[in-house]
Amino acid sequence: MVHKEEQRQHHDILTQWLLADHQSTDKFLRDIALTLISAGRDTLSSTLSLLLWLVATHPDVEEKIFGEIERSARGTSRFLICKDDLHELVYLHAAIYETLRLYPPLPFEHRCATEADVLPSGHKVHKGMRMLFSMYSMGRMEETWGKDCMDFKPERWISDEGNIIHVPSQKFMTFLTGPRTCLGKAMSFMLLKFMVSSILWNYKFEMVEGHVVKPTPSMVLSMKDGLKMRVSKRKV
Ligand code: HEM
Repeated sequence: MVHKEEQRQHHDILTQWLLADHQSTDKFLRDIALTLISAGRDTLSSTLSLLLWLVATHPDVEEKIFGEIERSARGTSRFLICKDDLHELVYLHAAIYETLRLYPPLPFEHRCATEADVLPSGHKVHKGMRMLFSMYSMGRMEETWGKDCMDFKPERWISDEGNIIHVPSQKFMTFLTGPRTCLGKAMSFMLLKFMVSSILWNYKFEMVEGHVVKPTPSMVLSMKDGLKMRVSKRKV
């Protein structure tokens, strides 16, 4: 049983679950906690590494993200962003979308047909047929994303009014689409915005000369030879 006072002190997801649902058994809670940890850990660490690499290799993007964080910090030397301020970080939000478009942490998926069916494209699917689809390739298709599909350009996610453009999940498939869509999308953006803004506010990242980043086609997208960077403390 979690009391109101504890609720104020603990913001972790398990405590919040216990507060919302008093009927779960210990086994159910264990399974839920494990599911959330395994679904969120590698996907978020893959995104974080790739985003830091893209930011370090695109100084114009770094400058815009840093400027936005600086405005949120409102002149204080200690940066402490609250959940309610996260919506101000629009450019960072767009940079996360753009990282996830070019480098989806789960680069491919497969599904098996339980019944014969016909896809919207007219392709026939037999019962038991296994289909593999690549979110990595779909995020780089010229007919979907335009001539600059291979460029890292957070601006493509921002409207003229300065808001994030809504892109349907059938087009941006990184979190999948349909009934088995990722349940952690909103949480991922929240956590990544917290992490990236506090990391970039405090540290500067520069690539080690000669180090080449190559993604590997594994179940979770990772870097073949790791990410070699020089990290220095920013003087803010
Ligand atoms: C950038 C981060 C993430 C990406 C790209 C991502 C992507 C995905 C994808 C593609 C699926 C579908 C898997 C399948 O059906 O084969 C999925 C499912 C799921 N994700 Fe995420 N995920 C991310 C972060 C998270 C986080 C942080 C959580 C929760 C803490 C989470 C919770 C889940 C759950 C519970 C499912 C299963 C949904 C279902 O089958 O009904 N994910 N995710």
